[in-house]
This record gives sequence, structure tokens and C-alpha cells, in this order.
Amino acid sequence: MRQAYPTNGGGEPDFYRITYISSAKGDIGKAELDAILDVSRRLNARDAVGGLLLYHDGHFFQCFEGPREAAEDTFARIRRDPRHAGLIVLASHPVEQRRFRRWSMAFFPIDQLTSRQRQDFVDFTQVEAHFSEAAKAGDPTATLIESFVGSFRGLE
Ligand SMILES: Cc1cc2nc3c(=O)[nH]c(=O)nc-3n(C[C@H](O)[C@H](O)[C@H](O)COP(=O)(O)O)c2cc1C
Repeated sequence: MRQAYPTNGGGEPDFYRITYISSAKGDIGKAELDAILDVSRRLNARDAVGGLLLYHDGHFFQCFEGPREAAEDTFARIRRDPRHAGLIVLASHPVEQRRFRRWSMAFFPIDQLTSRQRQDFVDFTQVEAHFSEAAKAGDPTATLIESFVGSFRGLE
């Protein structure tokens, strides 16, 4: 098995975090989700990538991070995946610190979300254009994403 990606020389990897939403193609049931999570957890653990995946009603929300090259390679594979389409990047930026130390890919079923988390999730998936534009412009959406992702406990 391949080693995790190299660091930037200073000992600390050059960390990168990517957040996107997408629409499922076809039916995504428990078996499909389990298959996605299985491969994600195996490859992410190998590549020192960690993150959070949500799925509800045909929409995915995913936030993940890792050494930059690993994060970008992971995202390139995800983008090609025929199980979803209409992928929109909400945020993509370097980070100083890992947020997902404990999870190669955490998953929360919708019924385990608080009503606030559920509402935020729906907002992210419904006002796609607004969010991606705002993400490019910078801060307000980044803050929104950070606080949304930060509201999931036990990932750090
Ligand atoms: C919504 C979604 C999220 C995914 N998340 C990851 C992930 O975090 N890490 C990963 O390695 N693969 C993830 N995958 C699976 C990849 O798309 C891909 O199938 C897998 O990495 C194997 O790559 P390969 O098909 O090029 O062999 C995800 C797929 C979907 C549909």
C-alpha cells in the first residue's frame, strides 16, 4: 500500500480543504452509500484524508481535507464518479489545522441531524449558485460552511 503523501518539508503537510455539493444520479440507497463510504474510508485512510459526508433526498454535501496533492487527487476521482453530477464547489482553500482527525469519512444520516443542521444542509443544496459565488468572493459563506461543519461533534 502506498504511503501517505509527502509533507512540504517543514514536517507539517500543506493542508487543503474542499467542500462541495452534488446531485445523486439514480437511486442512492443504503447499499450504494455503504459502498461509497467503504471505498472512501479505505482510500482516505491511506492518503491521510479526512472528512464528512451527508446525503439526503438526492443531494450530497461533502467536506474533506488532507495534504494538498492528496486532497486534489481525491477530488479528481470524486468528480469523475458517475453516481453523482452537477457538482458545485462551495469552498476550496488551504487550512492550518485538521478538522477531521478522527474520521477518514464521517457520515451522519439525516435523522441524526439537529433541525438546525438539517435546515442548513437544505439551504446549501438549494441556493447553489449563490453559495458558490459567495464562496469565490470570500468570507461570509466560508464562515457559514465552517460553522455548519463545526456543528458536527466528535470529528476532531
Ligand atoms: C458523493 C461521493 C463521495 C465520495 N467520497 C470519496 C472520498 O472521500 N474519498 C475517495 O477516495 N473516494 C470517494 N468517492 C468515491 C470516488 O468517486 C471513487 O469511486 C473512488 O475514489 C475510487 O476511485 P476510482 O473509481 O478512480 O478507482 C466518493 C464518491 C461519491 C459519489
